[in-house]
Amino acid sequence: MSKDALIFAEREREKQLQQLVELVSIPSISTLPEHKSDIEKAAQWLVTHLQTIGLQNAKAYPTEKHPVVYAEWLGALGQPTVLIYGHYDVQPVDPLELWKSHPFKPEVRENYLYARGSSDDKGQTFAHIKAVEAYLKTAKRLPINVKFLIEGEEEIGSPSLTNFFSSHKELLKADVALISDSHILSPTQPSIVYGLRGMTYIEMEVTGPDHDLHSGSYGGAVPNPLNALAAIVAKLHNEDGSVAITGFYDRVRKPSPEEQAELARLPFNEKEFCKEAGIPAPWGEKGFSIVERLGARPTLDVNGIWGGFIGAGAKTVIPSKASAKVSMRLVPDQDPHEIAKLFQQYVEKIAPKTVSVKVRAIHFAEPAIVDRKIPYMKAATQAYKESFGAEPLFTREGGSIPVVTLLKKQLGLDSILMGFGLSDDRLHSPNERFYLPNFYKGIQTSIHFMSLLKK
Ligand code: BES
Ligand code: ZN
Repeated sequence: MSKDALIFAEREREKQLQQLVELVSIPSISTLPEHKSDIEKAAQWLVTHLQTIGLQNAKAYPTEKHPVVYAEWLGALGQPTVLIYGHYDVQPVDPLELWKSHPFKPEVRENYLYARGSSDDKGQTFAHIKAVEAYLKTAKRLPINVKFLIEGEEEIGSPSLTNFFSSHKELLKADVALISDSHILSPTQPSIVYGLRGMTYIEMEVTGPDHDLHSGSYGGAVPNPLNALAAIVAKLHNEDGSVAITGFYDRVRKPSPEEQAELARLPFNEKEFCKEAGIPAPWGEKGFSIVERLGARPTLDVNGIWGGFIGAGAKTVIPSKASAKVSMRLVPDQDPHEIAKLFQQYVEKIAPKTVSVKVRAIHFAEPAIVDRKIPYMKAATQAYKESFGAEPLFTREGGSIPVVTLLKKQLGLDSILMGFGLSDDRLHSPNERFYLPNFYKGIQTSIHFMSLLKK
């Protein structure tokens, strides 16, 4: 059964790519209100596509924000049900001028598909859709039962999923969740992610004078919110690269010596890492390896900072307001809401008394460690082996996928994080790309996985 599907999938490569190009051409940026209709368009495109390949009950469910796309095939009596999760929303594209080709006019160059969403996460999700299609077009059935859940809010922290899950428990009933929204170690070394960091995303606004002031008439005698914000930001880290917020590390779970040893054994090349990131030397918390800093330690980064005059030329002004966006990546057992409170308390403590500071949390995601011992993991390992020719290693990832904890807490589902991306896919950055050989091997891996799950 899987043999015919594999042959079909290989023959269809050109068509699969064309269809993926169509999907990534839709600018479904979830965080920007002006792209609301593109979000709807992407959801509708998926519903139509899932119907066309033979899935049932394909539907876009409206939520408080962006629709959730669902479709199913439940004809394998007595066989396990896999909930395949993906997201059709993407991150903003700016700065646009740094893209070699337009983010929504996909281009193939040297085996890579360049477009926003190509890897994160339309391409990876589409691999499973094409695997399902390969079975349905050949055997007219799947070896197991499948439910697709493709959301449009992952890049903004999946805020609507909590309510959607609690009101659709029966619809989403399954035995395990399968998520492809991460990367493997290299094209020849697959890996399964078992740890994801969580997130607390904050915006803070510092106010000085109640209106902008001439910097000559007032400078030196009034508090400047930009200077104050810079002082606050400078105090968020200690000299040794650790985060200075009081209590920040209190709940950090320490990896066991076995896990530490396993992380140390992972192939990691510092030189290549620096080259990929475009930096002369790494930076980070003293006393921890880069692999640990990225996967097992919490961090804080300013994502944006603004205020005052930023146009060409010079304007002599003391602005009334200054702002910054800050993300904190968290690890088990930190609580994203508690971290938001600690951040606020710390900033209130260190902020110059001459300005007022407003702190507002924008979104949260729980950190996650998945159970590597579930029986389905064996099938995932074997599936990778058959398509990539190597046994996958287990990695902890620095990024966040909020749904993983929601699936576990609300639906009792363990997740298998079966990525098909590569670490240099440039997610969230200009020139995002998807390595096409991984797309095709992803389809194969999914075909093998389904067949291996059959009892
Ligand atoms: N695909 C990423 C998560 C990811 C990033 C996995 C890097 C593996 C490596 C996902 O789409 C993402 O970007 N998530 C957001 C979630 C956040 C907004 C809560 C993230 O990590 O910034
Ligand atoms: Zn992303």
